[in-house]
Amino acid sequence: MMDIEFVRSRFIKHFDGKTGNVYASPGRINLIGEHTDYNGGFVFPGAVDKGVMAEMRANGTEDTVMAYAIDLKDRVDFKLSDTKGPKASWARYIYGIALEMKKLGVLVKGFNIAFAGDVPLGAGMSSSAAMESCFACGLNDIFGDNKVSQWDMVLAGQATEHNYCGVNCGIMDQFASVFGKAGCLMRLDCRSREFEYFPFKPDGYRLVLLDSVVKHQLAGSPYNDRRNSCENVVKHIAAKHPEGKFETLRDCTWEQLEEVKEEVGAEDYKRAKFVLGEKDRVLAVCDALTEGDYEKVGEMMYKTHEGLSKDYEVSCEELDFLNEIAKENGVTGSRIMGGGFGGCTINLVRNDLYRKFIEDAKKRFNEKYGHEPKVYDVVIGDGSRKIC
Ligand code: GLA
Repeated sequence: MMDIEFVRSRFIKHFDGKTGNVYASPGRINLIGEHTDYNGGFVFPGAVDKGVMAEMRANGTEDTVMAYAIDLKDRVDFKLSDTKGPKASWARYIYGIALEMKKLGVLVKGFNIAFAGDVPLGAGMSSSAAMESCFACGLNDIFGDNKVSQWDMVLAGQATEHNYCGVNCGIMDQFASVFGKAGCLMRLDCRSREFEYFPFKPDGYRLVLLDSVVKHQLAGSPYNDRRNSCENVVKHIAAKHPEGKFETLRDCTWEQLEEVKEEVGAEDYKRAKFVLGEKDRVLAVCDALTEGDYEKVGEMMYKTHEGLSKDYEVSCEELDFLNEIAKENGVTGSRIMGGGFGGCTINLVRNDLYRKFIEDAKKRFNEKYGHEPKVYDVVIGDGSRKIC
């Protein structure tokens, strides 16, 4: 996690010398269950020990926000009453979450904020959800008497993405960032919003992320197209079955998908096929984890990668190459993690194979792409919180 004194020193320097309160929120990993959240399915994320830290303080104005992005050395001031909001993409997260928290009844006034992060940007580890939940936690504390529930903060973060950042995301990232617990993965049913903590201590294995450093950018990207494809398939199935209730692909069966295969077209069909398969895989992984069968977990991860690459088409050459290297090194499970279009693979690897795998991946990736992948050992950490 970040150093409080580092954030504090910048807050003091860039504003009026006074200190505020400090809040932190993590990024996340996801063991399995990709692109299932907005389809009403299951996901299996956990918070990581990397995230965003912000110092915040009411500044006595009605609605002027003075914001400093420490890592970018960028200062933006804006008014919450300005209907367009700031242009800088990082500042839109602050603007968006403040307006969403207002909708929840929080009397947000002007405030100063300085923040920094150590969750890599664009790596598919949800740096944006870390920002949203960190700022939400701060605003709830400073202006809201902490009356807004954790779930409402999750939804406010998601609404920020939808309404101010152009990404029609599901709820996995914000959920993981708010509810994370050290040492535990969480199985979330995105339809009912019920969830369970799963202590994750895979004896003899570890999780490691390999970051391709290919920039991952979901805004205005084909992410929204994937979601539209899924919704289109549901519409077609619903039209064929007026007696049923079809809200998301979660409500649809393999047979029903086959029925609309021709009319929805090859692309939407393939995408829906991936989602139905992924729904089954998450449940298989839950059983395997309960039985301590990590080889089975790994097998499902490889299948997910294949589906994400060939059917959902959110992988890229570099990620497929990292997946291939994992396979050749006997790594138990490996797959692209998060929204896709770049970012990381998540790898479940036996302790005795770890060193050789990492060395081989670095060497071969470097030979092919001229730089090494970044390596992040996964430490599962706590969710959003006030630090001081
Ligand atoms: C992004 C979105 C999530 C989820 C994943 C894919 O991270 O923000 O809601 O859809 O992609 O699983």
